[in-house]
Amino acid sequence: MTDLSINFAGIKAPNPFWLASAPPTNSGYQIMKAFEAGWGGAVWKTLGVPVVNVSSRYGGLNYRDTRMAGFTNIELITDRTLADNLREMEEVKKYFPNHAVIASLMVESRKEWQQIIKDVENAGADGIELNFGCPHGMCERGMGSAVGQEPAVLKTIVEWVMEAATVPVITKLTPNISDIEDPGLAAVQGGTNAISLINTIKSIIGIDLDTFSPLPAVDGKGTNGGYCGPAVKPIALNMVRQLAQHPEIAGTPISGIGGIETWRDVVEYILLGCTSVQVCTAVMHYGFGIVREMESGLRQFMEDRGFQTIYDFAGKALPNVVEWKDLNLKHKVVASINADKCIGCQLCYIACEDGAHQAIALPQNGQTRVPEIIDENCVGCNLCSLVCPVEECITMEKRDSGKEQLTWDELVAADAAPVAFNDPRAGGNGHYVPEPVKALNK
Ligand SMILES: Cc1cc2nc3c(=O)[nH]c(=O)nc-3n(C[C@H](O)[C@H](O)[C@H](O)COP(=O)(O)O)c2cc1C
Ligand code: SF4
Ligand code: SF4
Repeated sequence: MTDLSINFAGIKAPNPFWLASAPPTNSGYQIMKAFEAGWGGAVWKTLGVPVVNVSSRYGGLNYRDTRMAGFTNIELITDRTLADNLREMEEVKKYFPNHAVIASLMVESRKEWQQIIKDVENAGADGIELNFGCPHGMCERGMGSAVGQEPAVLKTIVEWVMEAATVPVITKLTPNISDIEDPGLAAVQGGTNAISLINTIKSIIGIDLDTFSPLPAVDGKGTNGGYCGPAVKPIALNMVRQLAQHPEIAGTPISGIGGIETWRDVVEYILLGCTSVQVCTAVMHYGFGIVREMESGLRQFMEDRGFQTIYDFAGKALPNVVEWKDLNLKHKVVASINADKCIGCQLCYIACEDGAHQAIALPQNGQTRVPEIIDENCVGCNLCSLVCPVEECITMEKRDSGKEQLTWDELVAADAAPVAFNDPRAGGNGHYVPEPVKALNK
C-alpha cells in the first residue's frame, strides 16, 4: 500500500495536497470542507492588518474553448479581522489535529512579525508561511513582492521571524525577479526551514476594447494583477528546479505552486524536487473535489512504479535537467506520419512549410490527403507533431545509432564549432532551403 503522508520540514500531513493561501482558504468553514474532501493541508489566506478590497477583482484568460487557461487577481490579503481568523484556526485544529494548517503572514515591522507569529502559534498553526510574493497593492505599501524582490530585506525579515517562531517557517517567493536563486539563497541564509513558490506573476490580462480599461475593471480603471493558473506552470516548474539544483538551497524542502490541476501536475512538481504542492486557481475553478482525482492518480502512478512514499521519487527528474551545452548534438529524430491515423487535415504541412523547414510534401495523386515527410529535409524540430490534432499520428523516430555523443563543449574543444559569421561549419549548412523566388511560383 502506498503511503502519501509527508513530513515537510517538520510539518506533518496525511498527503502532499495543500491549498495555497488564497480565497479557498479564507475561512475555517472552507478549510474544514476541504479537509473533509481529502486535502492534507491548507495555507490560510494571508493574515495581517486587514485590508479593504475592490470589486471586481478577477480576470480570466480564455484560450479558444478553454476558460481560465490563465487567471489574474488584484485582491489583497485577508479583509477579515485577526481575531476571527484565529478563532476559526483554533477550531479547525480541534477537528483536524493531523492535518497541516499553515498561517500565511504579511506584516511590516519586526514587532508586528513577532507578535503575529505568537498569535498564530497560540491558535495551533503547524507552520508559518511568509508572503513575500503579492505583486499588487501590498507591494505599493512596502510588503509582499517588494520584499521578495530585495534579497537583503527578505533575509533580514526571515531572521526576525526565526528569532520568534517555534513552528517551521516556509518562505514564499515571488517570480517577479530576474533570478529566483537570489531570494531563494537569501531565505536559506536567513534560516528558513522551507521554501514555497511561485506566487503570482505581475501582469495585465487584457484591455476592454470599448472602455479601454485594463481588466479586471474597477470603475473604468485597472491595475496590474497577479497571473496564475495552468498558463504559469512551466515558469513555476523551472524556478522550482533552479532552487532544487542549487548547491546551497538543495535539501531545503520545497512546496511547489503554480497551475496545478491534475495528478500529473503534482507528479511533475515532485519529480523536480517538491515534497508538497499547493493549489489555488484549479480549486477556484472546479472546487475542492479535484483532490479525489489527484489522490487516485498519484497512488496509481506510485503503485505502477513500485514507489512506496513520495520521497522515493522526489527529485528523480533533476539529474536530467542539464545545461544546453551538455545536450547530445549527435541525437537525431525525424518525423513520421502514421497514415492509418491521419485525417488529412494538412495542418502539419502548413506548419512545416511556413513555420519550419519545408520538409512535408502534399500528395499529388488526388487519391489521398495524407502528407509525406521528406526525410532529408526534416530537422526533427517536433512542430508538426505538436500541431497534429490526432494523438500519436505524428511521432518522432530516432535515426542516430545511439553510439555517438558530442556536446557543444566537446565541439568547441575539438575546434569544430563555428566561430565566424560565414563559417562553413554552421549547423544548418547542407540543410535544404528553397530559393526565395520559389515562393512566388506556388
Ligand atoms: C484571488 C487570489 C488571491 C490570492 N491571495 C493570496 C494571498 O493572500 N497570499 C498568498 O500568499 N498568495 C495568494 N495568492 C497566490 C496563490 O496562493 C498562488 O501562489 C498562485 O495563485 C499560484 O497558484 P495557482 O496557479 O494554483 O493559482 C492568491 C491568488 C489568487 C488567484
Ligand atoms: S496534421 Fe496529422 S492528421 Fe493532419 S494531415 Fe498532418 S499527419 Fe494527418
Ligand atoms: S519535425 Fe519539423 S522539420 Fe520535420 S517535418 Fe516536422 S515540422 Fe518539418
